[in-house]
Amino acid sequence: MRHTKVKDLLNSTTTLQEVNAKGWVRTFRNNQFIALNDGSTINNIQCVVDFENTPDETLKRITTGAAISVTGNLIESKGAGQSVEIQVTKLEILGDSDAEKFPIQPKNKPSLDFLRENAHLRVRTNMFGAIMRVRSVLSFAVHNYFQQKGFVYVNTPIITGSDAEGAGEMFKVTALPFDNTPRTEDGKVNYKEDFFEKETNLTVSGQLEGETYAMALGQIYTFGPTFRAENSNTSRHLAEFWMIEPEVAFNNLDDNMDLAEDFIQYVIKYALDNCQDDLKFLEARLLDEEKSKPQADRSEMALLEKLNFVLENNFKRVSYTEAIDILRDSTPNKKKKFNYIINEWGADLQSEHERYLVEKHFKCPVILFDYPANIKAFYMRLNDNTEPGKETVRAMDILFPGIGEIVGGSEREERYDVLIEKMKALEIDEEELSWYLDTRRFGSATHAGFGLGFERLVLFVTGMTNIRDVIPFPRTPGNAEF
Ligand code: 4AD
Ligand code: MG
Repeated sequence: MRHTKVKDLLNSTTTLQEVNAKGWVRTFRNNQFIALNDGSTINNIQCVVDFENTPDETLKRITTGAAISVTGNLIESKGAGQSVEIQVTKLEILGDSDAEKFPIQPKNKPSLDFLRENAHLRVRTNMFGAIMRVRSVLSFAVHNYFQQKGFVYVNTPIITGSDAEGAGEMFKVTALPFDNTPRTEDGKVNYKEDFFEKETNLTVSGQLEGETYAMALGQIYTFGPTFRAENSNTSRHLAEFWMIEPEVAFNNLDDNMDLAEDFIQYVIKYALDNCQDDLKFLEARLLDEEKSKPQADRSEMALLEKLNFVLENNFKRVSYTEAIDILRDSTPNKKKKFNYIINEWGADLQSEHERYLVEKHFKCPVILFDYPANIKAFYMRLNDNTEPGKETVRAMDILFPGIGEIVGGSEREERYDVLIEKMKALEIDEEELSWYLDTRRFGSATHAGFGLGFERLVLFVTGMTNIRDVIPFPRTPGNAEF
């Protein structure tokens, strides 16, 4: 008999039929009640064992983590908490799990730190099962959104020769030996002898390649892994993370903001509609976690309320200049509570400032736009009519409560001469980016796009607080286990 998924069994309306289920034991109580989970849902199915007619040897092997197969009648449950259960007639142990050694014991309430060290087993917990199912549904929603709108999914290269963000935080890719590295006459590494016969790195963003495709296919998006060698050991940074980057020909910055807002609301709604049980579980988890925090540090809204709030309210659009005024006059700035005090226009915003704006001042998602040119990447469009010394670019960052920056994007500098000027000022090699400049040489036009950090979205939707807990095997400074 083919086994049925636990999710389908729990939803089944026809009882009194013989069924088979396979999964992992979560708990075994009173030598009689097995809570069985197979990953298809957060909910376990209760399997009732006829212990009087089951050998002791078998009963002993029904331990947390063991893989089992149960066959029996699906009946209406007499107990509270579940509508159906399996009255076991045949039980088979597929794989034992030594109760002394299996590290994930629900009774001990393992800490998130301990679970991170056991990332290969943490997915056996309700919490991580829920997170990873929500993550999967969200990535489907991303594709659904763009495909429905006729965007073309583009796979930009993972190994590249360019530094899209110009921030220099790249992992090198090389096949050269470390000892006896070939050198040029002036002692530099001779990349001519390397695999690609040039210097290469892991991509920090697919944007530049994406732009070339948008300037032919009109609307495109990427969804793939990106890599940053920034030494940021925070709860919001990963060295390997997934980014979604739409790029649209003929869109200006306002269109870009509209697209980003609509997109984020769509995927959150999709998760709310399709992950009810998991989100309810995660909401309860968050409430429980927050009990140990002082009142002032607790969220004002429960998880589902917070997600609905984002759907029902427009994001507040605020220029950088307005934001600086607000921050300069804010209580934490005046009382020197910020680590970085905001004195003047031109300052780069730190996450403490972003979170102040979102969580304390506006109390809703915020889109900041028109940033000073010199704190943003080279490809952003220079605003017309800006004061000399106070040039701004058509950049936008979307800031979310509890997260800070979730999206970074811009209208692109489509004017060849202006772009070249900027690249010269920043000493960006024109030769290297000649292919990129071709988009401006041949049929250039207004276009815009943005990047959404997928894990930051998953953080927001699941109510988790550390980005290491929303990706299966996190890569961070000093950590590349598994
Ligand atoms: O703001 P960023 O650096 O923008 C870009 O890479 C542009 N090329 C995007 C574009 O316009 N097509 O990164 C975009 C987003 C950030 O807002 C953040 O959500 C996420 O990527 N991000 C990270 N997420 C996790 N770990 C990191 N180290 C991240 N760095 C950026
Ligand atoms: Mg950014």
